[in-house]
Amino acid sequence: MADHVHDGAHVAERAEARWAWIVGAIILFLVAMMAYMSLHWAAMPPVRTETVDPTTLHIAGEFVETNLGTAPEADGAVTVRLVANQYSFTPQCIVVPAGTPVRFRATAADVVHGFSIAHTNVNMMLIPGYVSNFQARFDQPGEHVMPCHEYCGVGHAAMWAHVKVVDKDEFQRLAAAQGGRRMSCVK
Ligand code: CUA
Repeated sequence: MADHVHDGAHVAERAEARWAWIVGAIILFLVAMMAYMSLHWAAMPPVRTETVDPTTLHIAGEFVETNLGTAPEADGAVTVRLVANQYSFTPQCIVVPAGTPVRFRATAADVVHGFSIAHTNVNMMLIPGYVSNFQARFDQPGEHVMPCHEYCGVGHAAMWAHVKVVDKDEFQRLAAAQGGRRMSCVK
């Protein structure tokens, strides 16, 4: 009988020890997970949300009308700035050089619009209050349609623009003729 009691206590002690290890392991796992997540977040690039006041786009800042269109940059790339509003894009015809990095910077003046260029991977949403960025490159000269692809009101289906990709030499000539002003193929 005495032996039996002694065995029981021993079994209980071993079970307790086992559970202590399991709980300890769980706590360690949770702490390790927190440490990993913290490091992971700290190592991520910061979110680069750019905001812009949609009510003053036409008055001041990057998206005033004279600054919309294509701007050659010092590094050889081009930046295209455009604004969407019900129911058109400004500019209506965008000209870019082939084989050149193209940065799109765009926003919406009123409601959410869609920005996509047919037969390319260019696809983003234009949201009032935010600047949308997209890096693209067009290998071949040619024309692309650029429909709005977010429902934005009764005129949505008629909201289109065009992108004209010209070869680099022609783009240089056009740029020279513009004398530093923003470029487009709006006639
Ligand atoms: Cu703009 Cu649909």
